Formats: sequence, structure tokens, C-alpha cells
Amino acid sequence: MDKLIVTNFKMNLSKEEVLEYKKIVENSDIKNLIISPSNIYLDLMSSNKYDLCAQNGYYEDFGTHTGEVSFKQLKSLGVKYSLIGHSETRNMSNEDIPLKLKACINNGIVPILCVGNDINEKDTSKLFCILDKELKILSGLKINDIIIAYEPTWAIGTGVTPSLENIKSVHTYIKNVLSKVYNIKCKVIYGGSVDMSNIKEICSIEEVDGVLIGSSSLNPNNLLKMYNKIK
Ligand code: PGA
Repeated sequence: MDKLIVTNFKMNLSKEEVLEYKKIVENSDIKNLIISPSNIYLDLMSSNKYDLCAQNGYYEDFGTHTGEVSFKQLKSLGVKYSLIGHSETRNMSNEDIPLKLKACINNGIVPILCVGNDINEKDTSKLFCILDKELKILSGLKINDIIIAYEPTWAIGTGVTPSLENIKSVHTYIKNVLSKVYNIKCKVIYGGSVDMSNIKEICSIEEVDGVLIGSSSLNPNNLLKMYNKIK
């Protein structure tokens, strides 16, 4: 199966840079690509070469929420996916994550739910308990399509990644829980310091359906080189 590449530009790149990015990607042979620019560039980045993903959204459809953008509004731009619960967007309580998940689903946007926060790889006894707790927000929701991103907070932007055994066992665990407990078949992707040096070995794990790439995806030529390593 072809692996999915999801980029996360975070709060980076200017209007000129995203337009240049789009041009380079459109002239390449890359497939299975999802791009998450800053929300302000989503419309500009629209292309039939890849799908668009929002980095976040607000759970109400409309209303008095200055500075927010709703999933309904994102959908009207042709956005197909949204990151939900990325560790850089979580607030202290995380109470809004189930609301965002619901709003995404109601508006026909596929959530890319980030889990794995605060998991310390060495503390394996706690690892599956934390995942169980994080995945509990799926109960009671009618989900047809979802992607789970395993993103241990300590691996984001640090240049450090979990061992391949850890990635494999967590992906297997998530897939099992989703199919047995929630009756959901889903893709599970890995995120956190994915770069040119490790993308190939991470994607060689059968259970890994793709990768979520932050800083290494900011340069389109790097992105294409990484794609060439796994295609
Ligand atoms: P990174 O970010 O690739 O820069 O570690 C990944 C993410 O935060 O999604």
C-alpha cells in the first residue's frame, strides 16, 4: 500500500512561499499527499494534486467567536482533513477535543486525531493506558473515516524518534483498539521528527500507514526527496 504523507507547516511560510511550494509539488510525481498550510492559505493552496488539511478549527459552525474559523467554513474551501488535538493546539483541559471531533464529522471533514501525548517510551506499562484514555473520546461517535496520528510529544521538533519496535507496537495496538472496541477501520500514521534520515525505515513498518511531517516538510524539494525514498 502507498504510504500517506501529511505535511504540517505550522505557523510558517509566506504567501509567496506557499505559492512556490504548490508549483513545485504540482510539477512532481508525488502521490498520496495531504498538505496542512496555515488556515489563511488553504484557499490559495487548493489543487487537484493533493488534499488539503486544516491545522485546527472551531467546533461551532457560526457565531460570536472572534478570530476562530469553523469546520463548516473550512469545508466550504474544499478542505478534506483537519488535524485534531495536535499537542501544540491543545489547551490545558483538552475539553474541546471531543467537540471538535464531532464538528469535523458533522461537516464531512476527516479528522486526523493526534494521540501519544506525554507518553514516555520507557514507561511501557503506562503507554497503552494513556492511549486507551485518549481514544475513549471516540466512543459514541458515528465515524466512517478517521486517521490516527501517533505523535509522542517528546519526539516533536526534537530530532529524537521512538524505536521502530515502539512505533510498530503502538500502531498495532491502536488499530486493534479501534477495530475491536469501536468497530472502526482506520489508518494510523506516525509523526515526530520524521526526516530524510528516518522516513524510509519508519515507512518500512507494515503497520505504519504514513507519516505526519513538520519542519522537514517546509522545503518542497526536501519533501520530494523524502517521497522518493518511500515510493
Ligand atoms: P516535526 O513536527 O516533524 O517538526 O517534529 C511534527 C508535528 O508536530 O506534527
